[in-house]
Amino acid sequence: MAITPPTERIWWNLPIAKVELAWIIIAFVWGLIMFFMMVYWHGAGEQNLSNEAYRITPEQFAAKTNAMVEQYTVRDESGYAVVHPPAGSDVYLIARLWQWWPIIEMEKGQSYRVHLSSMDWQHGFSLQPINVNLSVHPGYEMVVTMTPDATGEFGIVCNEFCGIGHHLMVGKIYVVE
Ligand code: CUA
Repeated sequence: MAITPPTERIWWNLPIAKVELAWIIIAFVWGLIMFFMMVYWHGAGEQNLSNEAYRITPEQFAAKTNAMVEQYTVRDESGYAVVHPPAGSDVYLIARLWQWWPIIEMEKGQSYRVHLSSMDWQHGFSLQPINVNLSVHPGYEMVVTMTPDATGEFGIVCNEFCGIGHHLMVGKIYVVE
């Protein structure tokens, strides 16, 4: 029930003002344009990641990550292993409550197959400031080919809400010459 009900009970059948009709048409046409832009950008926007997804258990993924960490750790950074795998190799990154593990160090201009999976819950991989975004699920591994074209330190934030420590779930990728 409205606080002030319309004086005319059959309000929806009143003649429409020209301005209102014009805005309805503009909004409708704009909605149609935006709808077909989704289809257009899919092909023309160069925004589609060339990623692949495979089934994997958290145990299998952890085993692969641990093997990489054992073989290629180069230093420790406040309790986190910094791993420098060979150029062109497969790289594994674990998402779990509430960390990205380990820290990966890559070489500029080299391509890596980066595997992402979760140990527990859904997380969101967001690479900053590049703005590469991927959902990370337990039971699946996402594989993205990355070829860093600049050196420096890149941040990973979790952009899927995953509980009380979500805002603390940050990680790092180093790119060196
Ligand atoms: Cu992990 Cu939010």
